[in-house]
Amino acid sequence: MEPELAILGRVVTTRGIMELAILSDGERILDLVTQGRVPHGTRILDRGRYLIFPGFVDLHVHCRDLGQRDKEDWYTCTSAAAAGGVTAVFDMPNTVPPTRTKGALEAKLSAASRAVVDYGIHLGLPEEDLWDLAREIGIRSVKLYPEDLELGYDRALRMIPEDFLVIVHAEDPQILRGKEALASDPGTYAFAYPPEAEVEAVRKLVSRRGKIHITHLSTKGALELCRGSGRTFDVTPHHCLLDSDMMPELGNLGKVRPPLRPPEHRTAIMSALISGQVPAVGSDHAPHTPEEKLELMFEEAPPGIPGLETTSHLLLTLCIRDGLLRPEEVLRLYARGPSEILGLRRKGLLAPGRDLDLAVVDPRASWKVDPSSFLSKAKFSPFAGWEMRGRVVETYVRGELVYSHGEVLASPGLGEMVRWR
Ligand code: DOR
Ligand code: ZN
Repeated sequence: MEPELAILGRVVTTRGIMELAILSDGERILDLVTQGRVPHGTRILDRGRYLIFPGFVDLHVHCRDLGQRDKEDWYTCTSAAAAGGVTAVFDMPNTVPPTRTKGALEAKLSAASRAVVDYGIHLGLPEEDLWDLAREIGIRSVKLYPEDLELGYDRALRMIPEDFLVIVHAEDPQILRGKEALASDPGTYAFAYPPEAEVEAVRKLVSRRGKIHITHLSTKGALELCRGSGRTFDVTPHHCLLDSDMMPELGNLGKVRPPLRPPEHRTAIMSALISGQVPAVGSDHAPHTPEEKLELMFEEAPPGIPGLETTSHLLLTLCIRDGLLRPEEVLRLYARGPSEILGLRRKGLLAPGRDLDLAVVDPRASWKVDPSSFLSKAKFSPFAGWEMRGRVVETYVRGELVYSHGEVLASPGLGEMVRWR
C-alpha cells in the first residue's frame, strides 16, 4: 500500500533513537524507513530535532465522571492524558457507581464516549454475572481492592474467569485493621498502611495461579517477591521520587494509597526502575477537587495524586537531564511494557500494523510544573515547582493531532475503546 503520510523525526525505537520516517496510511503505521527512502508524492510532516515516542499507555487511571464530575470527567481526564503524551488510558472501577454491575458499566461507557484519547475499562469485582457482556464489549481485566481481599484471596480470585487479567491493589486487609487512628496525621500516615500489609498480600498473591498483576507496588519486600516470581507489576512516579519523610511538608498533597513509604523503600523502587527491573510505570492519576486537597484538614482530605500531566515528564527528566533512563527505557516503561501487560496489539510501539499514536517531545524544553495550567480538574501536585526537562508538544491518536502546545484540538469523542485482541 502506498503511504499517505510520512512523519520525520528522531524516532525512539526499542534500540534507541534513530532518524527515521514513519510511513502511514494516516491512521496506522505501514513502515519505518530511513528519511531518504520516503516514496515520492507522500505528504511529509517533518518534526526535525524533536523526539518521537509511541503514545504512552497508562494502565492505572481514575477518570471519575458520573457521580464525581466535580473531580474529573472523561473529557478533562483524557485532555490531561493528551498533554502528557498518553494516547490510551485504562480506567479504574472505584467510581460512583462502581463498575460492578451492568447498569454501571453502561453508564461508564456512555461517559467515556467523550474521551479524546483511546481508553480501556477495568471492571470491579462484579456483583452480577458480567463476564460475557465484558467479553463482548472487549473488556478483559478486573481490579481487586484490599476490601475485595476480605473475602479471602482464593475466594476473590476464584470469582474471576481465567481469561481476565487481575490487577491488584495489594494490601492485606487483616494487617491494616486497627491502624486507622494513625491515618489522621501526616507524620504517622505511612504507618496506618504499613509495608508489611503490601508484602503479605503480594506473598499470598504470587503463589496463586492466574494472570495477576500488582499495581502501584511500593515496598522493597514486595519488589523482591515479584522479581523472584516473574509476576508483572507497575510503580508510580510518586513512590519512586517521594517518601514519607516529606509528608510533614507535603501534607494533603502527599496523601495517597499506598502511602509514600520510608526512604529505604523509595530508594529500592528507584534503583529497580533505573536498572531495568520494573515492567511498567502507571500514573495512578487520582483526581480530587482542589478544595478537597488544598482546604480540608489532613484527616478529611481524600487520598490520591493526579499524575497524567507529570508522569511522562518526570520520566523524560530522569532521561534527558539526569541520564538515569535511556529513551528506550522510557518507551518500555510507559508504552511497550503496559501495552504487553494488557495484551494490546496496536499500542505501545512504533512498528508496522500499530496505531499511529505519537508523543512528540521537545527534548530541549526546560520548564517548571505549574498545576494551575493542568488540563485535569485536579490543579494541584506534590511535584509543583519541580524543574522538568523535555516536554510533550504534540500528541497524535491514530493519526489525529489531538493536542498541540498546551491545547486540545480534538473534539470529545475522538477516543475509541481499545478492545482486547
Ligand atoms: O490514593 C488513592 N486514591 N488510592 C486508591 O486506592 C484510590 C485512589 C482514588 O480513587 O482516589
Ligand atoms: Zn488507583
